[in-house]
Amino acid sequence: MPDDRLIVAIDLPNALEGLQLAERLGEAVSFYKIGLGMLTGGGLALANELKQDHGKRIFLDMKLFDIGATIESAVRGLAQFDLDFLTVHGDPHVVRAAKEGAAGKELKILAVTILTSLDRADLDAGLMKAGDLPDLVAERAARAFEAGADGVIASPQEAAMIRALPEAAGRLIVTPGVRPAGAALGDQKRVATPAQALENGADHIVVGRPVWAAADPAAAARAILAEIS
Ligand code: C5P
Repeated sequence: MPDDRLIVAIDLPNALEGLQLAERLGEAVSFYKIGLGMLTGGGLALANELKQDHGKRIFLDMKLFDIGATIESAVRGLAQFDLDFLTVHGDPHVVRAAKEGAAGKELKILAVTILTSLDRADLDAGLMKAGDLPDLVAERAARAFEAGADGVIASPQEAAMIRALPEAAGRLIVTPGVRPAGAALGDQKRVATPAQALENGADHIVVGRPVWAAADPAAAARAILAEIS
């Protein structure tokens, strides 16, 4: 059984390169994240192909944010595709509308708390209220759960705090910002290793560059799977 706790982010420019990566990774990886960078490069077509022809699970990372009516219709449209996870921003009005749009479908709505690439200085620049970043993440997670989110996206450093929330019972925690020991951080600031992220209460870890940018992506994925097994 492939271990679907590992989600590989395919942050490549087009579907062809994404498919080539998935073919190189083969059976080892069963869950893929497709994001905004591939939207104009056939991302939805790739999502369909990986699902229908290769039996993979799909996380569409759109991080939607808009007025409720627009979110609801966007999610209703996306829910026509056979997707597993979809992200929206964690603001309660957005989460509620997304759940309406996904009604009757298997699609799980995951709420973004605070991007793992941001630190307190970035929040100041974005006029986000004062307070320690982990506390704000926990507060946003609790509100997203109250609004009906099936799960949240958070940094592995905040996963334990979220797991401890009463509102988090039975909900998913998905953590990007995961770096095997020694891997380059890139723009990520609040990181942990795959094993630490799972120990902290994550249900799934999302790993991008350490896999797709590796000289041997299959070996990189296998090393992560070995670390968490
Ligand atoms: O390459 P890397 O492992 O940093 O990729 C992480 C992936 O997770 C990227 O696709 C990024 O857009 C996504 N992500 C994130 N932080 C969030 C939500 C999603 O890094 N809060």
